[in-house]
Amino acid sequence: MYSKITRIKAREILDSRGNPTVEVDVYSKSKRGREEVPSGASTGIHEALELRDKGKRYLGKGVLKAVNNVNKKIAPRLRNKNCANQKLIDDLMLDLDGTANKRKLGANAILGVSLASCRLASKIQRKPLYKYIGALFNNKRFTLPTPYMNIINGGKHADNRLQFQEFMIVPKFKTFKESLRAGSETYHVLKKLIGKKYGKSSTNVGDEGGFAPNLNKVREPLKLITKAVNELGYGRRIKIAIDAAASEFYSRKGYLVDDKYLTQNKLLKVYESLVDEFPIISLEDPFSQDDSEGFVSITESLGRKVQIVGDDSLVTNVERIKKAVELKACNALLLKVNQIGTLSEALDAAKLAMDNNWNVMVSHRSGETSDSFIADLAVGIGCGQIKSGAPCRSDRLAKYNQLLRIEEELGR
Ligand code: PGA
Ligand code: ZN
Repeated sequence: MYSKITRIKAREILDSRGNPTVEVDVYSKSKRGREEVPSGASTGIHEALELRDKGKRYLGKGVLKAVNNVNKKIAPRLRNKNCANQKLIDDLMLDLDGTANKRKLGANAILGVSLASCRLASKIQRKPLYKYIGALFNNKRFTLPTPYMNIINGGKHADNRLQFQEFMIVPKFKTFKESLRAGSETYHVLKKLIGKKYGKSSTNVGDEGGFAPNLNKVREPLKLITKAVNELGYGRRIKIAIDAAASEFYSRKGYLVDDKYLTQNKLLKVYESLVDEFPIISLEDPFSQDDSEGFVSITESLGRKVQIVGDDSLVTNVERIKKAVELKACNALLLKVNQIGTLSEALDAAKLAMDNNWNVMVSHRSGETSDSFIADLAVGIGCGQIKSGAPCRSDRLAKYNQLLRIEEELGR
């Protein structure tokens, strides 16, 4: 089958926050793979570099340099290469960049090409994307993931006073379709409860489609969510997950929670009591990205009951995951393709985590597009978990809706 890359074309488009991002088309004759690159707000300091133009245009956020790097530097290097050889494509770009954090070409430039090549190859082989990724990952067990839906937004994703960034519901029903339905119902009941208690303007939404009422105590959103779940009678079938994104409320004074600065140990006590009180099954970034002591202490104390997910601390980076495995600093990996910048490296990160009996959760970014690649990624690697924000806003639903299609195709 003809799978040589004949042309690559990148352009600047806008993401869900209205900021520029990179879109890449990779062609093999008349066939095309197109991918759009997401962008975070609460980014980890160890992430691969997202290249932005600086200067006046788009208030410094333009990505024309990254676009130019795709069109002028990456495209000639990859012309006539086999798009079905993912490793080769990614290695050639790593080589061309030559830096540890992809600062020369930009991780946003490299990722767009990496994902679009994969999409193109799946089209040429006439395979659904999840099956194609499954083959790359040596996986044939295509499981639909449990959705982690962020229905109350705080931290950097909202203009309220909530320090914890994400309050998620985790519907665990037999099918994905049923989980999505129960999640959506909960979302709408929650809207009613928030409107009643805090007034209509409190139901405005944050970057990931969740409500962003002006609450400032961590228990308040958890109580509201519990009330919504109970009103629907879903009791035990809907669990709760938190992404504290603690790097964002950590300073030399300590962790700022509920208007007080807490020590590492006091914060651990807060998590322990929340886990006692609410049906929490997953805690992401409970401590700051370089506070490995905090991560080790919580994994030791809660790790048997609760999944401790590393996002900013691991940044989908094999070397950082290796260290965390040694330290027992986590028991789950948040998998974000743009944190590392190529599909091959992201798959290596997932493999390493799974080989060490960690859980893996595929994740969107707070700045997203209508691209649904990560839905196929989650099914392809069979990791069983995805977070893509609230069941609201097309950028979030693009992924959940794609999962509905995949489930239908798999006949479940
Ligand atoms: P980000 O947030 O995309 O803004 O980094 C998502 C997360 O922290 O999981
Ligand atoms: Zn996170």
